[in-house]
Formats: sequence, C-alpha cells, structure tokens
Amino acid sequence: MAMLKGFSVAFLVSFLSCHLIWIPSQASSDGFLQCLRENLPSELVFEQGSSSFTTVLVSSIRNPKFFTNTTVRPLCIVTPTDASHVQAAVRCGRWHGVRLRVRSGGHDYEGLSYRSARSEVFGVVDLAKLRTVSVNRFESTAWVDSGATTGELYYTIAKNNPRLGFPSGVCTTIGVGGHFSGGAIGMMMRKHGLSIDKVIDAKLVNANGDLLDKAGMGEDLFWAIRGGGGESFGIVLSWKVQLVYVPSIVTVFNIGKALDQGTVDLLTKWQEVGPSLTDDLTIRVIVQRDQALFQALYLGTCRSLAVTMRSKFPELNMTTADCHSMTWLQSAAFINSGNTDVEALLSRNTSLSTFTKNKSDYVRTAISKLDWSNIISWFKMNAAGMIIMEPHGGFLGTIPAAATPYPHRNGVLFNIQYIVFWQGDGTATTTWLANFYDFMGKHVSNNPREAYVNYRDLDIGQNVVVDDVSTFDGGKVWGEQYFMGNYERLASVKAAVDPSDYFRNEQSIPPLLQGQK
Ligand SMILES: Cc1cc2nc3c(=O)[nH]c(=O)nc-3n(C[C@H](O)[C@H](O)[C@H](O)COP(=O)(O)OP(=O)(O)OC[C@H]3O[C@@H](n4cnc5c(N)ncnc54)[C@H](O)[C@@H]3O)c2cc1C
Ligand SMILES: *[C@@H]1O[C@H](CO)[C@@H](O)[C@H](O)[C@H]1NC(C)=O
Ligand SMILES: *[C@@H]1O[C@H](CO)[C@@H](O)[C@H](O)[C@H]1NC(C)=O
Ligand SMILES: *[C@@H]1O[C@H](CO)[C@@H](O)[C@H](O)[C@H]1NC(C)=O
Ligand SMILES: *[C@@H]1O[C@H](CO)[C@@H](O)[C@H](O)[C@H]1NC(C)=O
Repeated sequence: MAMLKGFSVAFLVSFLSCHLIWIPSQASSDGFLQCLRENLPSELVFEQGSSSFTTVLVSSIRNPKFFTNTTVRPLCIVTPTDASHVQAAVRCGRWHGVRLRVRSGGHDYEGLSYRSARSEVFGVVDLAKLRTVSVNRFESTAWVDSGATTGELYYTIAKNNPRLGFPSGVCTTIGVGGHFSGGAIGMMMRKHGLSIDKVIDAKLVNANGDLLDKAGMGEDLFWAIRGGGGESFGIVLSWKVQLVYVPSIVTVFNIGKALDQGTVDLLTKWQEVGPSLTDDLTIRVIVQRDQALFQALYLGTCRSLAVTMRSKFPELNMTTADCHSMTWLQSAAFINSGNTDVEALLSRNTSLSTFTKNKSDYVRTAISKLDWSNIISWFKMNAAGMIIMEPHGGFLGTIPAAATPYPHRNGVLFNIQYIVFWQGDGTATTTWLANFYDFMGKHVSNNPREAYVNYRDLDIGQNVVVDDVSTFDGGKVWGEQYFMGNYERLASVKAAVDPSDYFRNEQSIPPLLQGQK
C-alpha cells in the first residue's frame, strides 16, 4: 500500500509537468492496470477477467473476422465519461509503456480500434459513452463528441432545426471519432465537401495526456487530425462543426437496371455526368449480382430533378414517378436503410453474422465502354461481390489537395469501394476480390494507386517497426496511397507531437525523424 501511495504521488507529479514523461523500456501490464485502478473510477475499467469484458468488447464489433478465439484482444477496456479519464488512461499507458488503441464506433474495416494484427499488449479507450451532440442554433454550429454516431448527429441537428444538416457518411452507426479522422465522404460532399471540410475546432488528448483545443494544438496538428487517419496523433474527444443549410424537402431516387439492360452504356455515361452535374445532385451506383442501382440525393424538388435528369442524363429514363420526396433527415434514414423511420437513426445495433472484406480505388480517367463490359462480367462469377461508386467533383473538387490530408479531390471522377460478404469459408470469395482488384489496376489511378483511409485495407501495407518506432519509408508504401503528397507532412507532424510513436497501430503515421528522408 505504501508503495502504491508513493506511486500515486509520482504519477501526480507527471500529471502536473507537461512534457516530463518517463517511458520504461519494458511494458508493465500489471503496473498499467494498477495505475488505471488508482486513477479512474472502477466501473469504467474492464479487465480481461471481468465478467462484462466480452460484452463491452463486442458491443461495437462489426465483423466476426475480428472476434475469434485467436484475435489479439486488449488487456482492458476503459470507457471514459470525462476528458480527465482519457488523460489519466494515456498517462498510465505512457508511464508503464503500454499502448492504447482508441475506439469510437468500432467500424474500422480491419478492426484496428480493438484488436491488434500482431502480437502485442495494449489497452482500449472506448469513447462510446462520450456522445453528446450540442447544437448552437444561433451560430449554426455544433460540438459533437467522438463517441456519437453519424445517425445521432443527423437526428440531433435536424430536431434542433430541420433546415440544418451536415455532410457525412451514409451508414448511420459509424462513430464520428474514426469517421471524421479519415475524412468522411457522403451524399452531400459534392455540395458541401467532406465532414472534415466543416470542422472548425476540436479537443484532443495528446501523447503527454494534455487536453488541447485548436489554439493549443496549433495549425499543423489541427490540419493532421482532419483526415490523416485515426490513432496517430492523439485521442480526439470532440469536434466543432459548421452546419449547412438544407432545403425543407429533398428528393431521393433508387433506379435499378438489370446488368444486361444497357448498363454498360449507362455506366459509361454516368462516370462523366456524375462528377459534373449540379452540386445539389449526387448519383452513386451500386453494382451487385445482376443489377446496377443508381441511387440519388437531390437537394431540391422532384420537378426540378426530373428536368435536370432529362437534360443531363436522359439515358436513365428517370421520371417524376421515381421521386421520393422527404425531409433531409428522412433521406439520411432512407438512403441507409430503405425506410424513412428517423428514430432508427438512433439505433446502434450491429450484427456479427456476416464476414466482409473491402478495398478501394479512385478513377481519374474515364473507363471505355469495352472495359466497362469486361468489368461487369466479373459480377457473373461471384454473387457475393459488390462495388459502390461515388461521384466526386463539385465543391469537393475545388478544395486544394493539400488543404486537408484527404488528397483525392481535383480530377477525381469517382471512387470505387469493393465489398465481399461471406459466411463459413471465405476462400473463394476473397480470392475473387483479390483477382478483381488486380484486374482493375489498369483502369484506376496509379502512381500511387489511390485508396481511402476510411476503407482501411491492411493488404496495401503495414508499418515496419525498427527500435520501437515505425519507419517513414515503411509507411510510405500504404501512406502515399491514402495521402499522396500529404504523407510527408503528416509524418512531420507526427515527429513533432509523438516522436516516440506511442499512438501506433499497423497503419498509423510514422514520425519523420531527422535524417530519415
Ligand atoms: C457499414 C459501414 C458503412 C460505412 N459508410 C461510410 C461512408 O458512407 N462514408 C465514409 O467516409 N466512410 C464510411 N465507412 C467507413 C468509416 O468511415 C470508417 O470505418 C471509420 O473509421 C469508422 O469510424 P468508427 O469511429 O466507427 O471506427 P473505429 O473502429 O472506432 O475507429 C477507426 C479508426 O480510427 C481511430 N479512432 C477512432 N476514434 C478515434 C478518436 N476519437 N481519435 C483518434 N482516433 C480515433 C481508431 O483507433 C481506428 O484506427 C463505413 C463503414 C462501415 C462499416
Ligand atoms: C477456435 O475456434 C475454432 C473454430 O471455431 C475451433 O475449431 C478451435 O477448436 C478453437 N480453438 C480453441 C483453442 O478454442
Ligand atoms: C464494407 O462495406 C460494407 C458497406 O458499407 C459494410 O457493410 C461492411 O461492413 C464493410 N466491411 C467491413 C470489413 O467492415
Ligand atoms: C429508356 O426508355 C427507352 C424508351 O422507352 C428504351 O428504349 C430504353 O431501353 C430505356 N433505357 C433504359 C436504360 O431503361
Ligand atoms: C436493436 O436491437 C434490440 C435488441 O436486440 C431490438 O429490440 C431493437 O428492435 C433493434 N432496433 C433496430 C432499429 O433494429
């Protein structure tokens, strides 16, 4: 007990001095857990042996791939209800040389927020309980905590003022923390940009356990957290966002065409029209099995949408009979789930029933008609395969590539997300995906072949760790695919704020240390 007391005092000293943090060379799990017990309310710390550990761990896992008996699980999960708890967890982690991973919504495609792809000892800070959204109607801004979902964000904004909305992702169970960290693309990005383009302040706990706002973190770090990927720079607790005006009624359509119903012509036309239409209209395409689904959100009325479609994309044969008119909030529910029940936006239900693997690409040069027909033929081989293509252009494309870490802007026609689902043995399905991705190489951007960090894919590379620090060159392989010319600036920011590489996962930004380039 005397020893513990002594430790607490030393701990407090480290709390008070900003940059004095001693890192032992050997990780001490026992010391780390003891430190958490001493400095956090016990009901917020779940150790592996605790009866609720598995329930808390699985609460936001999306993919059964990362919940098996060989998954490398955390030593413990901390579920903070206050910034000071996050600060204490980081300080305990630093003090005892145990890394932390941070989880907001748990939707990471590789599960990196709660499992390690390597064998290592780590704790998880799960922000699910920090999920307040507060809207300032006079400023048209909101503070949103990282543990909130996009559904909760949309719902709270619109309930405050139905004429306000926010550009963010389609899926409404995604956590704001991870989602904003990687950029956040969605159905209003052509008009209003990505979520990060509307972030105006943030609160972050850095690797020393300091709580910083935009002014405290400085321009470079504030730049890096808006799109540079989660986990590299600290734990973002909340984000201040500029809300956008939405019309009182928006229009949605879902037009499905059988793959032999002129789809090749439609896709050939869509890839050029989609990125150049009015910013108010986004038409994305989902190809699956024997069908291509053209799904649109239009920030305007049915009548005016039909006029635009007749003049710009008559081949789709869209008419007013295809329109679903609704509020913007209803459209968020409808595009996610096919029905307009806005209360469903508050559901955090996740399912562990289907295995999935995703990959991504960007297209900058239109694909020929012949090539589209070859692409389409791949879907005849695999009923479990799917692609989602989202048009860029509009306001999104006018923002310079270096303005935020998300570089896929000017000149991008659309992105492609490849998805496979399976149950039981996934060998055939994942092999199909790998072969299809190889085949697509010649039709998509190259040098680098671009990828979206929020569609995380460990196949494109993982950090190389030397002397307990990930190397700049090792990270380049995947880092330039995600961030292109911004990779180097991200690595410089990392060197300035976390040179010892405390916040690390398989694809975190490595520090660009002196003499490394
Ligand atoms: C069904 C589904 C639909 C999706 N739809 C879209 C879409 O429409 N548009 C789009 O852009 N993306 C979409 N995504 C991808 C999504 O944006 C990413 O998976 C995102 O990272 C998820 O955030 P999260 O908080 O839920 O994930 P988590 O697994 O909690 O975190 C993801 C990563 O960010 C880190 N991180 C989490 N919280 C923080 C924090 N507070 N501070 C610092 N780092 C943090 C984690 O450590 C991890 O590395 C979708 C994903 C799924 C599964
Ligand atoms: C792990 O799970 C697999 C598949 O469910 C099973 O065959 C195996 O026996 C399990 N191993 C252990 C150690 O529990
Ligand atoms: C891939 O994307 C689909 C559609 O957004 C999603 O349902 C699935 O969970 C994603 N895959 C992974 C590995 O999370
Ligand atoms: C659009 O309508 C025309 C005339 O009815 C028809 O010939 C054409 O096949 C339709 N196109 C699609 C893609 O459905
Ligand atoms: C979420 O899950 C709970 C418990 O299983 C269920 O009662 C509820 O209906 C589900 N909600 C939605 C929107 O699916």
